[in-house]
Amino acid sequence: MGSAVGVKALVIGNGGREHTLAWKLLQSPHISEVVCIPGNGGTATLPRCRNLALSMSDFEGIARFALVNNIGLTVVGPEAPLAAGITDALQQQGLTVFGPTQAGAQIEASKAWAKDLMQEAGIPTAKAAVFTDLSQAIAYTKAQGAPIVIKADGLAAGKGVTVATTLEEAQAALEAAFGGQFGEAGKRVVIEAYLMGEEASVLAVTDGLTIRPLLPAQDHKRIGEGDTGANTGGMGAYAPAPVVTSALMERIQREILEPAIATLRKRGIDYRGILYAGLMITPQGDPNVIEFNCRFGDPETQVVLPLLDTPLDSLLLACAQQRLESFPPLEWKAGAAACVVMASGGYPGDFQKGFPIRGIEAAEATGAIVFHAGTRLKPPDVVTDGGRVLGVTAVGESLQEAIDRAYAACDRIQFEGAYYRRDIGHRVLKVGNVSPPVAG
Ligand SMILES: Nc1ncnc2c1ncn2[C@@H]1O[C@H](COP(=O)(O)OP(=O)(O)O)[C@@H](O)[C@H]1O
Ligand SMILES: [Mg+2]
Repeated sequence: MGSAVGVKALVIGNGGREHTLAWKLLQSPHISEVVCIPGNGGTATLPRCRNLALSMSDFEGIARFALVNNIGLTVVGPEAPLAAGITDALQQQGLTVFGPTQAGAQIEASKAWAKDLMQEAGIPTAKAAVFTDLSQAIAYTKAQGAPIVIKADGLAAGKGVTVATTLEEAQAALEAAFGGQFGEAGKRVVIEAYLMGEEASVLAVTDGLTIRPLLPAQDHKRIGEGDTGANTGGMGAYAPAPVVTSALMERIQREILEPAIATLRKRGIDYRGILYAGLMITPQGDPNVIEFNCRFGDPETQVVLPLLDTPLDSLLLACAQQRLESFPPLEWKAGAAACVVMASGGYPGDFQKGFPIRGIEAAEATGAIVFHAGTRLKPPDVVTDGGRVLGVTAVGESLQEAIDRAYAACDRIQFEGAYYRRDIGHRVLKVGNVSPPVAG
């Protein structure tokens, strides 16, 4: 606090998550400027933020820029650069990075590796087996029976998992994976028992020694209302997720987060960044890990960070510099946040780009925050530039209020073909009220 010369931060990525990270960093009294590589229309128009047109895979170029421009903190958004070793490359130049090394990112980049880690750590997760041979994989599915879950091992942009309700479906998924549908990512598959229950996301910050959860969130992955239709990158989210009670969060900390970090350390991995646990809460109320991710979730970040009162840069620096244990308890706003994703017509299939977006200022005049995802600045307009276009986010005293405010803001925004779900939060609103914050 109070230093005359602020810290410059670098955010890697170009989605709604990265706009949210840049926006939250700039709320800190210590941050003077944020540069996004490559950024989007939102980060191009955010005051004290600018975009730099470098490739996310140009680690040398990024390191040179960060050194010359005295970047004090680099935050990496997406999994692909983490899995490709961006953190290792920047750390070798003496830069301070929030995000795990390539070795740590395996927890997301290889589902087989993650499963093995969970088994070693004693973390509750579905029973599974790993195969590199189609006929053995088919024999195993037949022995297990349907429903069963087939997962490509490597990064598949959210398209590598089939929840097969019949053996025929399972076999088709195996044939597609071994046939090269996901490239090398699918030449190894994890076959996993089907778990029933409710999904929730717990993002935790860690410095490799200490791990602390953020507020729990839930998202809506399907394109259609009532959670129907094709899978997407996420059509909306809300936090805190009432399904994760404070008692359950304590179990998640003890049974999942702490063992994961301890076992990573046992493997010689100094993991500093987000550990994101994708959970299935069974009907008995037990948390099981569906997957780990090695970065902030999108759109979960859009609802978790607006509720955070602790300066984000201080928290991320404490992780990057391995002093999380002595960091003060996280401070959260009371109430809830909701995010409604406005998408291009046709998404997650084919869609057109380049349509001007109107009404963002009017939407923000309601008090909502319009996070940009697939947008681009094309002066004087901001135009659509991707499938998920905007994450219209609002905070309220209750989840119902947050949702109503987010929709009131959506109503003020127009672009050709705009599509959004009208039922974000329906699972919770059916059940009742928002529980108090439970993260530490
Ligand atoms: N064992 C399982 N039982 C039931 N559903 C599952 C299981 N594993 C995954 N799923 C479903 O498939 C989705 C995607 O699986 P996940 O492992 O999260 O892979 P990714 O996010 O990399 O596509 C999950 O969000 C969940 O809905
Ligand atoms: Mg997932």
